[in-house]
Amino acid sequence: MKGVILAGGNATRLRPLTWVTNKHLLPIYNKPMIFYPLEAMAKAGVEDVLIITGPSHSGAFINLLRSGKDFGLRLSYEIQEDAGGIAQAINIAEDFADNGKILVILGDNIFSQSLKKDVEEFEKMEKGAVVFGKHMAVASKQYGVIEVKNGKVISIEEKPQKPKSDIGQTGIYMYDHRVFDFIKKQKPSARGEFEVTDLNNVYVLEGTMICKMLTSWWVDAGTSFDELLKANSLVAQEIKKEK
Ligand code: G1P
Repeated sequence: MKGVILAGGNATRLRPLTWVTNKHLLPIYNKPMIFYPLEAMAKAGVEDVLIITGPSHSGAFINLLRSGKDFGLRLSYEIQEDAGGIAQAINIAEDFADNGKILVILGDNIFSQSLKKDVEEFEKMEKGAVVFGKHMAVASKQYGVIEVKNGKVISIEEKPQKPKSDIGQTGIYMYDHRVFDFIKKQKPSARGEFEVTDLNNVYVLEGTMICKMLTSWWVDAGTSFDELLKANSLVAQEIKKEK
C-alpha cells in the first residue's frame, strides 16, 4: 500500500504562527510537525509516500525532507493549487496510487500507535475503506463524529452541533482504488470544500466503511493553540519515558 500525507491548507486557526510558514513545518517538541506522520508511515510499513502541500512553502518541504532516505521512505511531492478541502487534495494522488489502495494521514495528526497490523489487514480486503476513530470525553464540535451500531458505521457528520456519539473522526483513513471515482462525483459543501466526511459517507452508504478505534493518544495539532501545545507535551513525555 502507498501512503499520502496532506500538508496543505491555510491554517487560519494558528495565525499568526502560520502567516509566513506552513503549519506542518512548525515544531512539535524536537521535530517539525511533518516528521510525525512520516514516521507513522514508516512504522506502518508503508514505504512510498506522497506529500501534498500548498504552493507557498513547497520548496521548504523538499529542502527539509529530500528523498525521504533518512526516514527509510521514498518521497514524492505534489502541489494542491487551491485549498479546496481534504477530498480534493486526496484526488491529486490518483496517478501516484496507480490503482492500488492508499493510507491517508492528515499531516497535523500526531499519535503514537503503530498502524502496521491495520495496513496488513486492509491489504487483504477486497474493497472498502477504514476510518480511525477516537473516543473523546466530549464529542467535540471540532471534528467529524462517527456513529457506530453493532460494529457498523451508520453515519459520519462533520462538526455537528449535536454529536450522535463520543467517537471523533481522526485524520487517518485507508481507501480502496475506487476512492478517486467517488471524489470525482462529489459536490462541494456549503463552505465550498470537498469534504472528507462526504467522501467517507459514500463508503458508509455502500456498507463498506469500517471504523477502527485508536487506543493511543492522538492530537489534531492544527485545531488550536491548546491542541498544538498538547501535542508538544505528549511527545515530550513519550521521549522522556523512553530514556
Ligand atoms: C478534518 C475533518 C474532520 C476530522 C479532522 C481530524 O477537520 O474534516 O472530520 O475530524 O480533520 O483531524 P479539519 O481539522 O480539517 O477541520
